Amino acid sequence: MKRSIIKSTGMFVPPNVITNHDLEKMMDTSDEWIKQRTGIEQRYWIDQEGVTGSSDLGFEASQIALENAGWSPQDLDFIIFATLSPDIMFPGSGCLLAAKLGLDSTPALDIRQQCTGFLYGLATADAYIKSGLANKILLVGAEVHSSGLDKTTRGRDVTVIFGDGAAATCIEGVETDESVGVLAASLHADGNLAEALMAELPASRLPVRLPPGLPTDDARYFPVMDGPAIFKKAVRMLPKVINESLEKAQISLDEIDLIIPHQANMRINQALGQFLKIDNNKIFHNIQKYGNTTAASIPLALHEAMEQGRIGKSGDVVLFAGLGAGLTWGSAIYKFL
Ligand code: ACO
Repeated sequence: MKRSIIKSTGMFVPPNVITNHDLEKMMDTSDEWIKQRTGIEQRYWIDQEGVTGSSDLGFEASQIALENAGWSPQDLDFIIFATLSPDIMFPGSGCLLAAKLGLDSTPALDIRQQCTGFLYGLATADAYIKSGLANKILLVGAEVHSSGLDKTTRGRDVTVIFGDGAAATCIEGVETDESVGVLAASLHADGNLAEALMAELPASRLPVRLPPGLPTDDARYFPVMDGPAIFKKAVRMLPKVINESLEKAQISLDEIDLIIPHQANMRINQALGQFLKIDNNKIFHNIQKYGNTTAASIPLALHEAMEQGRIGKSGDVVLFAGLGAGLTWGSAIYKFL
């Protein structure tokens, strides 16, 4: 049977480190508040003067992943690009990335599922491989948040958590009798809660997408979030969706070697550990260094966990889980070949 195997990973963050102390100079916040409430110590933002979009960060991460897989871009038969911060309104960043990779006919699909983008992408890659539609897939998560954040006290709850970054995985269909690769995936969405975390403009539902004369600091340009509501939802829904995937894969939590949750808030992931009654060192954290890089967050954490030798040996089992804007949430279980 065809199994979807992660051949390689790659990651890239822009060189511009923004510490919590840097944010103190822009808005009424403090290093202490940010660390205590979120666990974040720093994040990377693109240079403000630059012209960097998410496909540029995705390109850097993709080159590393492709090199690690020993693939050239021409080997790819499908590209999946997950982002909430596309370079432009259309076409999708996947098309832009394909062009940057020197490709001119490889199919490219954008996924707009925010923090769950990698999970939707992994499930899509798995379905494409198992159905025979594709066999060598590049799955990228990339975000440039910093150019769209309200860097005043008004936007402090959202702005302090977001970082720019990208990560890529090369996924290949491999014929084997072993139960390996993507073992299960569970995906959900509830658009009734869309307004709990959204950026309203530009909007096709308005007569003019960017209302004329609007001041450039109009609140609707920036993401707004009902943080406590999302926090509570995450703590409630993540254990449920994890159990759903465990049941589908017919394995127990004890058989999971590492949980890689979306990095939205250290406290959410610690609460998840308590809820599941598992040791904190079984949960991977890197939010301290990168903040919330949304669609890039889970593959970036996977890349680092593999580099650190926390996961990646044959037979190791990793569980991914996340919840974010949409609302969307999900989990997936992967066993290394
Ligand atoms: N610095 C200082 N004070 C702040 C800041 C800040 N950056 N942000 C908010 N505050 C203040 C608030 O104004 C409030 O003050 P008040 O008590 O005087 O009214 C106080 O801190 C507490 O605010 P809360 O919003 O209740 O703080 P909370 O502990 O909930 O932390 C946070 C806020 C970090 C946003 C948290 O709610 C959270 O992480 N929520 C979930 C985020 C998430 O998972 N999002 C989904 C993924 S992102 C995606 O999908 C794109």
